[in-house]
Amino acid sequence: MAFRLDNVVPWGRSFDEYVGMFGLKEDELGLSILGCGDGPASFNGEMTKRGNTVISCDPIYQFTAQQLQTRIKETYDKVMEEAYRNQGNFVWDIIESPEELGRVRMGAMEGFLADFEKGKQEGRYLAESLPTLSFEDKAFDLALCSHFLFLYTEQLSLEFHRASIAEMCRVASEVRIFPLIDLDLNRSGYVPAICAELREAGFVVEIQKVPYEFQRGGNEMMRILNFGGIMLKIISVKTDEDVEAAKELFTEFDGFVKERLYEYDSFSWMAKHWQNCKEEIKELPGKYSGPRGCILIANYKNKPAGCIGLLPGSSEVSIMKRLYVRPEFRGLGIGKSLVKAMLEHACNAGYKSVCLHTNLLLNVAINLYQSLGFEEISHDREYPEEIKDLVVHMELRL
Ligand SMILES: C[S@@+](CC[C@H](N)C(=O)[O-])C[C@H]1O[C@@H](n2cnc3c(N)ncnc32)[C@H](O)[C@@H]1O
Repeated sequence: MAFRLDNVVPWGRSFDEYVGMFGLKEDELGLSILGCGDGPASFNGEMTKRGNTVISCDPIYQFTAQQLQTRIKETYDKVMEEAYRNQGNFVWDIIESPEELGRVRMGAMEGFLADFEKGKQEGRYLAESLPTLSFEDKAFDLALCSHFLFLYTEQLSLEFHRASIAEMCRVASEVRIFPLIDLDLNRSGYVPAICAELREAGFVVEIQKVPYEFQRGGNEMMRILNFGGIMLKIISVKTDEDVEAAKELFTEFDGFVKERLYEYDSFSWMAKHWQNCKEEIKELPGKYSGPRGCILIANYKNKPAGCIGLLPGSSEVSIMKRLYVRPEFRGLGIGKSLVKAMLEHACNAGYKSVCLHTNLLLNVAINLYQSLGFEEISHDREYPEEIKDLVVHMELRL
């Protein structure tokens, strides 16, 4: 079916909004960037003025600036009327009122219109449509897509999302998509399937909070990273072979913690009384069985590099345990990827929080948990005098 301008409601955001939506850092602005579905946003024009490189693709670029301007004028009042009517759906802080929204959006779109014809001649605005792009593999460092995928969950199929995201992953080393909510402000139902499938295919997928929220609840982006040769793959333990790998990793975790405890006098009581997890290992997956429990293994270049487990504490609380990365694979961000993947699993499994307990000796892990939002909490568990100040309980509310 031909793409028709009268079906489009052109609405574009500014450079500052792009920076916020995608959590772009100063040094990332210098990457070669592809904007998919940039529409009448002023990001490309403003980036070009700053000396940076963006190519934008959108089917509306087949039209002239004059045609787009007419269409923007035709739809502006209707879109603003909707914004006034549904004010409760938006967070009015950076943009303080519907009037200011009108000014900011029109400012961005006028900036786009002023740049469009020149940008088209320079090859910065290309009339291309997902899910098929004309670029070479890995032509870009970063592909961005805002207010298109996931937002139109109702209108665009899961198959279209799959194919579009696969295409962006083909042409760029990293893909960022914002927001993850649909037009009804609910997290898109496609997110869990897309994350799982991408991870299965070897991508590192993260859901990251960003400093931008205008649609209420729209403050998360999906980051999809392709480490060149697809080095890191996080799998959920399913087969007998996976269970054997988990048993080996859990056994190493057990030995590693015990050994560390013996290195320090103040932990010697804990070391002597260390309850190893032999029984748990024998019975794996045991209490980590799905759907409420889970064991994830990180395979790095096809070798098991680390693990993490989750088990139910109550209907709303899950307990995270056994985070371990083999010594030769440390420093590659594998621990963080494992925890992030497990947090998402906990969220999808319906838990409201993730708890854990650890000890002060495992300070690297404690720093990692804190960086992901875990906070130390008090607890009512009774510990012997010798160790009560060494144990740390943490919680993250999902
Ligand atoms: C709501 S606008 C978002 C514009 C911009 N990304 C922003 O956040 O301000 C969605 C854009 O997606 C574009 N679009 C529609 N179908 C597309 C496709 N198959 N591939 C790429 N873009 C498409 C529309 O033309 C429109 O400009």
